[in-house]
Amino acid sequence: MRRLHTRTARRRVVGALTAGLLCTFGPAAPALAAPAPTVAAPAAADVAPTVDDGLALTPPMGFNNWNSTHCRAEFNEDMVKGIADIFVEKGLKDAGYQYVNLDDCWALQSRDANGKLVPDPVRFPNGIKAVADYVHSRGLKLGIYTSAGTKTCNEAGFPGALGHEYSDAQQFADWGVDYLKYDNCNNQGVDARLRYTTMRDALLAATGTTGRPIVYSLCEWGQNKPWEWASDVGHLWRTTGDISDNWGSMLSILKQNLPLAQYAGPGHWNDPDMLEVGNGGMTDTEYRSHFSMWSIMAAPLLIGSDLRDASDATFDILGNKEVIAVDQDPLGKQGTVLSSEGGRWVVAKEMKDGSRTVALFNETGSAQRVATTARAAGLPAAGAYTVRDLWQHKSYNTAGTISATVPAHGTVLVRVSTDAKWAKNPPAVELGLDGGLLVEAGKPVKLTSTVTDLGRTAAAQVSVKLSGPAGWAVKATSPAGTHTLPTGRSLRTTWQVTAPKGTPADSYDLTLKASYRSPTGVRAENVLPLTASVVVAPPAGVSSLGDLPWLSTTNGWGPVERNTSNGENEAGDGNPMTVNGVVYAKGLGVHADSSVEYYTGKACETVTAQVGVDDEEGDDGSVAFEIWADGTKMAASGVLSNAQAAQAISADVRGAQTVRLVVTDGGDGSTSDHGDWADAQLTC
Ligand code: GLA
Repeated sequence: MRRLHTRTARRRVVGALTAGLLCTFGPAAPALAAPAPTVAAPAAADVAPTVDDGLALTPPMGFNNWNSTHCRAEFNEDMVKGIADIFVEKGLKDAGYQYVNLDDCWALQSRDANGKLVPDPVRFPNGIKAVADYVHSRGLKLGIYTSAGTKTCNEAGFPGALGHEYSDAQQFADWGVDYLKYDNCNNQGVDARLRYTTMRDALLAATGTTGRPIVYSLCEWGQNKPWEWASDVGHLWRTTGDISDNWGSMLSILKQNLPLAQYAGPGHWNDPDMLEVGNGGMTDTEYRSHFSMWSIMAAPLLIGSDLRDASDATFDILGNKEVIAVDQDPLGKQGTVLSSEGGRWVVAKEMKDGSRTVALFNETGSAQRVATTARAAGLPAAGAYTVRDLWQHKSYNTAGTISATVPAHGTVLVRVSTDAKWAKNPPAVELGLDGGLLVEAGKPVKLTSTVTDLGRTAAAQVSVKLSGPAGWAVKATSPAGTHTLPTGRSLRTTWQVTAPKGTPADSYDLTLKASYRSPTGVRAENVLPLTASVVVAPPAGVSSLGDLPWLSTTNGWGPVERNTSNGENEAGDGNPMTVNGVVYAKGLGVHADSSVEYYTGKACETVTAQVGVDDEEGDDGSVAFEIWADGTKMAASGVLSNAQAAQAISADVRGAQTVRLVVTDGGDGSTSDHGDWADAQLTC
């Protein structure tokens, strides 16, 4: 659950959900105290209510400023025009991006004497019509935003359309607006269906006067299950709260949107919120996953970064036409989950041409094998299939297996088809690497690579190479090549890898690369990027985990803190760790959901701690503590609430390469979940 960042707000998180927690609004709506405005509909609303209007037959594509600018001053006419120019000049318009959408903060706080909306004269000195005209002159379309409430979501409180639906819709239409995002803040408790349907009718009435159809985007954050009722109200509906530019947010939204596949189709789409690609809070691997998964979910593709200073990598991701074609497939199916065990996700999407797009998505923090088959993805039985890799832009043949080692947080996205010409492509090979990529400087580690032929045809002249950073010694200790690799067979090669003495503890890139030929001589290769961690052996004796270097952390809010509680924002913003009045000098302060991983190198015996919810959350918060040794849960506290004293927890970790201290939300969402691993100690 998203958190508000003030202490008072925190206390009312659950109740606030219905009033618009997911907005960036400040002063809450005057709740139900104010009389609900009456909805202004024309006396005889004889407009046929339907959105079966041929609009948004594929998910809308375009831009919206919110994720990059929020309400900041750079959201203005120059930006909007600049984005329109870039759409044309950088080929994004050709790739399908069409709508240039304004979000909140475009208007003044007060309507004029006639009740009309007034564009902010500093941001939009020439008004909205001039911007629409410019965008139209570039062959693009303009979108605008308001709320189905008395005010929009921003704390400044710009006017919302509740009670002004017909006049505001007419004003938008007169300006030449082509798309409306209709938010949910300050809604005065008026029934959502009524509010959203009234604006639908108002838009249809306005379109009747201008002839310019308007795509209608419902933004009520999934609170009223719009997928169950809105397919004849709007063209798309948000299914979740707001996305933010980090892996956890993207992942949580993805998981909420995936189960809604059955509700999406041409003209009515699930909207898991706008793209964060290029905003800087995720790696390019994570952004490729974000874009792959939004596309396989047939989500609207609204670019949320300021393209005026976007990197080449951002343009490469957003401009990938093969991935866009998945999103825009005219059959309009949202992909469905075939499996998700252990964070290894397989999602398949039926395509109009009968092919299937398959995403092998790795939610976890380490490389994983993710696998399925062409049959499981929905294709008919066949001796061989063509597999098109949509990020590598290369085609292969497979005898039926679709599998890959997928890097941490990565996605392999392929389009699989029965294709009479499959044999012209080289066989697909799968790469794998066994053995830990945890390396102590100066100490050799053994690894085993596998190259497996997934093709119907054999791979010929196969060779494999593992390479590491400059100065690392990497040598094969068994054959790294073979004359031919028949269907289903693997070449296994053992390797010895040594990081030079003195290599600082950190993450380092390694690459495994297989080169081979198809039976007809076509050259092919497959590359697996890997990450090795240089680690420091744990000290002998008893150490405080609050003082030891860790391998990796994830944390619900803010960073994991050493020897203080979790302050939710910057490093070092916690308090003395306190559980039920007892103050602890040492330990780890975390916020669910959290995981802190240490390298123990098979040299340690026990982990012990006093665990509980920190007192700084008053009566709130309930979490569960777990200690894992490699892949096995060795100890669990059960759910602990803030009322309880710290409990002792202890785990036997003998033989483990790594241990992980995990805090879950106890099954009730992560609000106020400040967990303390007080006096956490490792004995080696
Ligand atoms: C809400 C919406 C966001 C954005 C902001 C603007 O939070 O969900 O997408 O439009 O309001 O204030």
